[in-house]
Amino acid sequence: MTPETFFAALWRQYTELTPQAARIHGALKARGETVLNDHVAFRTFNLAPMRLQDLEPWLLEMGYERLEPYQFPGKHLDAWGYLPRTPELPRIFFSELRVEALPEDCQAIIKGLVDQVDPDSVNGPDFFYRGLPWALPTAEEYLRLAEVSEYAAWMSVMGMRANHFTVAVHQLRSFDQLSALNEFVKQEVELPLNTAGGEIKGGADVCLAQSSTLADQCRLRFRDGTDMVVPTCFYEFAQRFRLPDGSLYQGFVANNADRIFESTDRRRAG
Ligand code: NI
Repeated sequence: MTPETFFAALWRQYTELTPQAARIHGALKARGETVLNDHVAFRTFNLAPMRLQDLEPWLLEMGYERLEPYQFPGKHLDAWGYLPRTPELPRIFFSELRVEALPEDCQAIIKGLVDQVDPDSVNGPDFFYRGLPWALPTAEEYLRLAEVSEYAAWMSVMGMRANHFTVAVHQLRSFDQLSALNEFVKQEVELPLNTAGGEIKGGADVCLAQSSTLADQCRLRFRDGTDMVVPTCFYEFAQRFRLPDGSLYQGFVANNADRIFESTDRRRAG
């Protein structure tokens, strides 16, 4: 599969559950902007057959190279950043949850889900947009996961898909600062931003400034028949700055990403 085909399929799946991303993208294009993707983020559990190490080969096969690892001890997450073979393609940020760090009842819920994944079905890059590779949990299981790990709860109902796409703010022509794009999103597109840790995470001092919307929502019918509204995915905005040698910073910043993860928290779900 070519990276172009891969990202086109991912975007289609992502915008179905994240209509706000298509709205913002459309509003930027209507202003005459060409929107480039800074990065796309994926999530997974560290359980075979869908550990990061099980899925990474498909990224490498599409020409991606490992950049560096990141740790989020407070959220029991590990991640890797990947760089594309050409600068037109997005970087990839791929995180996984250390399931063994959660309480035993939560581990059992997650193992019950991952046990339903046929290892033979994890056979190509399309697994990244497989959607839910297991039956939905019960509402009680979902809420128990959410108490302990918002990330685990999100994975249990969203499965495999892009968690977010990201507008490369440094590539936009009519916005010279992330703060200006934030105002545009709030005032013109009328969408709220994630304010956890402040609207803008990072800045020129760490060569990367980021902001994000709050996740869209959808109504799900859980396995026990309960209907509930859950967060889906969000859109991110990233402005990269130049290093002293003049090159654009390519990495991620764990301190920024730590609060970006919270864009899918349930606090807005009703
Ligand atoms: Ni991101």
